[in-house]
Amino acid sequence: MLMTTKPMYDLAYGGGFGVGAFNVNNMEIAQAVVEACAEEKSPVILQISKGARKYANIRFLRKIIDACVEEYPDIPIAIHCDHGDTEDLIRQCIADGYTSVMIDGSHHEFDENVALTKQAVRVAHAAGVVVEAELGMLGGIEEDVVGLSAEEYEKNIEQFLTDPEEAREFARLTSIDSLAVAIGTSHGAYKFKHEAKLAFDRIEQIMKTCPGLPLVMHGSSSVPQELVSLINDHGGKLDNAKGVPEDQIASAVRKYGVCKVNIDTDLRLAMTAKIREVFATKPDEFDPRHYLGPGRDEIRRLVKRKLEMLNVAGRAEQVVNRWKKLGEPLPGYYCQGATA
Ligand code: G3H
Ligand code: 13P
Ligand code: ZN
Repeated sequence: MLMTTKPMYDLAYGGGFGVGAFNVNNMEIAQAVVEACAEEKSPVILQISKGARKYANIRFLRKIIDACVEEYPDIPIAIHCDHGDTEDLIRQCIADGYTSVMIDGSHHEFDENVALTKQAVRVAHAAGVVVEAELGMLGGIEEDVVGLSAEEYEKNIEQFLTDPEEAREFARLTSIDSLAVAIGTSHGAYKFKHEAKLAFDRIEQIMKTCPGLPLVMHGSSSVPQELVSLINDHGGKLDNAKGVPEDQIASAVRKYGVCKVNIDTDLRLAMTAKIREVFATKPDEFDPRHYLGPGRDEIRRLVKRKLEMLNVAGRAEQVVNRWKKLGEPLPGYYCQGATA
């Protein structure tokens, strides 16, 4: 069932679970993610980056997601724009039937981020679509925005983490529905040069200054070492790839209250590992179904494990009931703690 993230976060907030947000770029990835969620009876956020829109052509991707929604009517599905950077893109996503958008103005100065986010909220809320924004600086590369190397980021981590007081002000000024925070994660497969460690105290502080506001963790792939080895053992070269340990993500969600967890890199690793394995072990194979199929199976297995980690398995029915109870959006429906 297609819906916004609101009923998901209503239940996740204080509920000891987090919703997985998985990036989809093609049919195999979308199928694998949604099949895993159906098997685990779990709500899910399918997120589409600007790059995914371009790669797959959003018309094709939307139809694939529509098929997922039709195939699994009991599974709550939100379609989310990942790292939207302009009002124009947000408008296009809304026209394309997304139920949730991210406006990422985190690379701008505070006031400019506020102005861009406020405008996105105005446009999205008028269309019944919820908005995620970002404050603070993640390491690595955020789509077209070049960040810092993992080394530079780690060395100066404190100055890039989300400031709890700024977060309070940002939420108050923008009326966002959720906030992506910088707490030591980064995008991609090389997240830590040294010890992998999230700033849990920072999550606690932001939860205090922004009560009721669902928090989002980007860059939350754990870069499973068995997948890295499978890739490297079959001709790949991913040296020193390192992610966020799964137990830390589980704590962020279960103990500290993070509501949404973004995962893309791990799906890429799973698909790549299986394709490499097939190519290396069966050099005469040339039927795409025989290497994309194992890739899809591996993503499904991986996502099932993530859903257990996020403690979100078995929550689908609750979310559907909450969605039905919410009914049509009314004034104030969107704001969760963020008072405009
Ligand atoms: O946060 C970034 C996501 O992994 C999307 O990456 O822009 O390469 O599709 P992409
Ligand atoms: P990863 O690169 O850790 O998978 O993060 C994905 C993400 O944050 C998408 O917005
Ligand atoms: Zn991200």
